Amino acid sequence: MRSILITGSSGFIGSFLAEEALTRNLDVYAGIRKSSSRQYLQDPRIRFSVMDFTEKSRIKEFLVEQKQQGIRFDYIIHNAGLTKAQKKEDFYRVNCEFTRNFIEALTETDSIPLKFVYISSLAAYGPGDQLSMKPVMLDDTPKPVDEYGKSKLEAEKYIRSLSGFPWLIIRPSGVYGPREKDYFVYFQTISRGMEPYIGFKPQILTFIYVRDLVRLILDATVSNISERAYFVTDGKEYDSREFAAITKKHLNKKTLKITLPLGLVGGIAFALEKLMSLGGKMPTLNTDKFNIMKSTNWTCQVDVLQKDFNFRAGYDLDRGVKEVLEWYRKESWL
Ligand SMILES: NC(=O)c1ccc[n+]([C@@H]2O[C@H](COP(=O)([O-])OP(=O)(O)OC[C@H]3O[C@@H](n4cnc5c(N)ncnc54)[C@H](OP(=O)(O)O)[C@@H]3O)[C@@H](O)[C@H]2O)c1
Repeated sequence: MRSILITGSSGFIGSFLAEEALTRNLDVYAGIRKSSSRQYLQDPRIRFSVMDFTEKSRIKEFLVEQKQQGIRFDYIIHNAGLTKAQKKEDFYRVNCEFTRNFIEALTETDSIPLKFVYISSLAAYGPGDQLSMKPVMLDDTPKPVDEYGKSKLEAEKYIRSLSGFPWLIIRPSGVYGPREKDYFVYFQTISRGMEPYIGFKPQILTFIYVRDLVRLILDATVSNISERAYFVTDGKEYDSREFAAITKKHLNKKTLKITLPLGLVGGIAFALEKLMSLGGKMPTLNTDKFNIMKSTNWTCQVDVLQKDFNFRAGYDLDRGVKEVLEWYRKESWL
């Protein structure tokens, strides 16, 4: 039986990765922190690996201990990452430095797996051109517009500079599904009868349902392909109004459309960030978030992904939103 270590298993995507890996008869090691929740890691076949990425020496100790117990990870999915932070430096520390610590520790303890999959993000490349509306292509020059995306890009640059290391980089676009808390806020807003828009130009968005994403990631992990990077979406593009229409349909709700001018939201984001920085805090609406919200082209190239892994999403937005809303209702989130 082959083994797999999935870091960030306690999180939204990580918990689904662990489930998917179990269905493939892999010996699953959930890489978590001491403080991590195990709520969605209840399957008794899951083994836990408490990891601390803050110092390379701690990861080395962990890897040496594993070896002493006869454990070798055939595959590693490095999915742990910071998507929101109080301080910009935290993005670089967790997404970049911790990744470097981890890879150096693997190398120095002779623990390099058959495949090391890094979960990056479309944010590492940023949005596509807003005039031509062309998708972001795999060979485009990355232009991230927020610190999160920049930190993911920095980690990618480090990984791509390695030689003799079997890496693969996966860059999902917006991931939604059960257990997810950010798109949930949007669904909740619609369910409360409000349909918010920022700016008058519709955004063109891309999504991937978590169940399709983890299936693709596991296919890619056990494949013969390495030293490549891929964007992941369900293969379709959605206008922000379509996203709202699908959500309203499945919630059976009528809404009041509220369109806030870009300048106003940008001004508020800037002012909030300045004000809260005095107390060392980062507001939820900040300039990074604004840069993401004002970008109208979140389309990207997926034909290579589809070809290399014979990947077809089983869920389009209509099917995925229907299923996720059923889950939120069942769990009394909505
Ligand atoms: N959700 C999306 O739309 C999306 C899109 C593209 C890429 N991604 C990437 O996918 C990965 C998973 O994201 P997610 O949406 O599942 O986020 P999530 O629910 O917030 O999960 C993040 C995971 O990373 C762990 N983590 C955070 N900081 C850590 C630290 N300092 N040390 C060790 N572990 C740490 C968390 O552990 P705790 O539970 O202990 O906090 C958690 O298990 C991330 O790398 C993210 O950048 C997400």
